[in-house]
Amino acid sequence: MQFRRCRVLVTGGLGFIGSNLVRRLTAEGAEVTVIDPLVTGCGGKPFNLEGLERQVEVASCSIGDAAIAPLVERAELVFNLAGEISHIHSMLFPERDLEINTLSQLRFLEVCARLNRGVRIVYAGTRQIYGVPEYLPVDEKHPVNPVDFNGVHKYAAAQYHQMLSRMGRIDAVVLRLTNVYGPRMALDIPCQGFFSTYLRKALTGQTLDVFGDGEQVRDPLFVDDAVEAMLTAASTPGLPSRGYNVGGPEALSLNRIAAIVSELAGLAPPRRGEFPADRKAIDIGGYRTDSRKIEAELGWRPRTPFAEGMARTLDYYRECLPSYLDPATPNPPCKLAHSS
Ligand SMILES: NC(=O)c1ccc[n+]([C@@H]2O[C@H](COP(=O)([O-])OP(=O)(O)OC[C@H]3O[C@@H](n4cnc5c(N)ncnc54)[C@H](O)[C@@H]3O)[C@@H](O)[C@H]2O)c1
Repeated sequence: MQFRRCRVLVTGGLGFIGSNLVRRLTAEGAEVTVIDPLVTGCGGKPFNLEGLERQVEVASCSIGDAAIAPLVERAELVFNLAGEISHIHSMLFPERDLEINTLSQLRFLEVCARLNRGVRIVYAGTRQIYGVPEYLPVDEKHPVNPVDFNGVHKYAAAQYHQMLSRMGRIDAVVLRLTNVYGPRMALDIPCQGFFSTYLRKALTGQTLDVFGDGEQVRDPLFVDDAVEAMLTAASTPGLPSRGYNVGGPEALSLNRIAAIVSELAGLAPPRRGEFPADRKAIDIGGYRTDSRKIEAELGWRPRTPFAEGMARTLDYYRECLPSYLDPATPNPPCKLAHSS
């Protein structure tokens, strides 16, 4: 992989996955520009890029703003991670999710296609588009049946990438990521999925809750492995496919995931609880990715076992927890509810 001196644009680069990607790219010698206005309710933080202030230019505007034109024009490579990940937020504020995950993407891609024809774009798609799996593991042929607005809106954005690629106006690849975890995930925003909640509780000494019977499987993907998948997709010439499912190395039940996190954090065993109604309505049951296509075509596979990735994640937050969570408010209120 050769990113040295490559002019790279990362949208959503102050967020969880984006900032880990930016750190890796700068370590490889890339010249990185970030577009991220730190949207309220999303997971971005300036602290995620602490120490890189002189190396990385950060444009504090939306990817839907006209101001991005010169940044797009000079980019040799684009990683498009701008987005809202919360399924609950999407159900509470669907038009907000539409604006962030779809309309802004449409505006952004039109600028890319107009000012930087044929540019390679790696888009962070989601497994949420598949909805409740009809079979496991979920491959790329699985029907698309999202259970929430987030899944619908992210699917539309993924389709924009693929349609414009078919027309030859951009050269995009969509990676449908499973649940990603690791350092720099936001901990101070409720409704961002169970990993954020588990980490917040684990780091503030609270017992973890598992909803339902806890036997739903997930295949957690460590963020370094997700970054590696993106770099691989970015640097493969003549991509054989425009879309790949990207999952973690192990299928673990939520009971097992919660037990591993609790053990690593020195907590009491997890508790069983009833599903809150808002979560139950959009629960997808069990999910496991079939990542064989990306392995066969691009040579990527996940490498980090869950217990190892989670131990590294907890170590990271122990060093700098106050930058992610006010210990006096271990269960922070929803920022969206307060700002809208
Ligand atoms: N975290 C996961 O488990 C996961 C799983 C599947 C897909 N994804 C996708 O990966 C991407 C990154 O997710 P994350 O977990 O890092 O989320 P995050 O919330 O930590 O980061 C997203 C960043 O995007 C920024 N952003 C939002 N709207 C923007 C806009 N219009 N212009 C520029 N920036 C904007 C936010 O300010 C935030 O910093 C998202 O597109 C998400 O849908 C994440």
